[in-house]
Amino acid sequence: MEVATESPHGCGNSSDTEEDRDSDTDFGPSKLGTKEYWEATYQNELETFKDVGDVGEIWFGEESMTRVLRWMDKTTIPENSAILDIGTGNGAFLVELAKHGYKNLTGIDYSPASVELARNVLQAEDLTDVTVKEMDFLNCQGELKDFDVCIDKGTFDAISLNPENAKEGKKLYVQAVKDALKDRGFFAITSCNWTKAQLLNRFSEGFEFVQELPTPSFQFGGKTGSSVAALIFKRVL
Ligand SMILES: C[S@@+](CC[C@H](N)C(=O)[O-])C[C@H]1O[C@@H](n2cnc3c(N)ncnc32)[C@H](O)[C@@H]1O
Repeated sequence: MEVATESPHGCGNSSDTEEDRDSDTDFGPSKLGTKEYWEATYQNELETFKDVGDVGEIWFGEESMTRVLRWMDKTTIPENSAILDIGTGNGAFLVELAKHGYKNLTGIDYSPASVELARNVLQAEDLTDVTVKEMDFLNCQGELKDFDVCIDKGTFDAISLNPENAKEGKKLYVQAVKDALKDRGFFAITSCNWTKAQLLNRFSEGFEFVQELPTPSFQFGGKTGSSVAALIFKRVL
């Protein structure tokens, strides 16, 4: 199994000034922002999974899942909570959530190959009660609602890199998370393209910041930084 490092390709440093927080120019567009890229990626990963049973890349490494699961334990998120994995990719997080005892799990992704891969990965683990749907999160037409917890690991990053409509995509994304969550529901986001300050700014209206999950930090030129931000928000109406 390939495990991505905490700074995978496609993760740029984004600036943190007041003007840049809402800007679309703090990192450039990338193929990682396109559906074609993800479809080709998951087609390959699906073939590899069928050949050798390797689920493929774990974005930001295994620890990125463990830290969210640890927070869920500490917060005593009930096992029957409705949980949505936004842009589920290979479904690896759904597998971990199910093994952790969560029973009401949904994953969505706009890549048909991702959906097929995630279903295959879940089936190989005998986890047949997990729902995986092909769906564009930015155009889900009210189908996603009443979730207790929404999880994002790398999907808002991908949407922010869209070469065509990143600005609109970011706005639609925030609204889609609001629509998908119950009042007081939690949103757990792990991002490598946005800093804590930028995420706080982006998810300020309709959300209450709950906490930052500790991520590995690095030191460079006398400054301490983190290559990944992991934040928890609560939906407030
Ligand atoms: C960086 S990958 C992360 C995958 C998975 N969350 C993980 O941690 O391994 C980004 C994922 O977002 C999905 N994605 C991007 N834009 C999307 C959209 N508008 N709707 C649904 N899924 C989307 C991609 O297909 C891809 O699976």
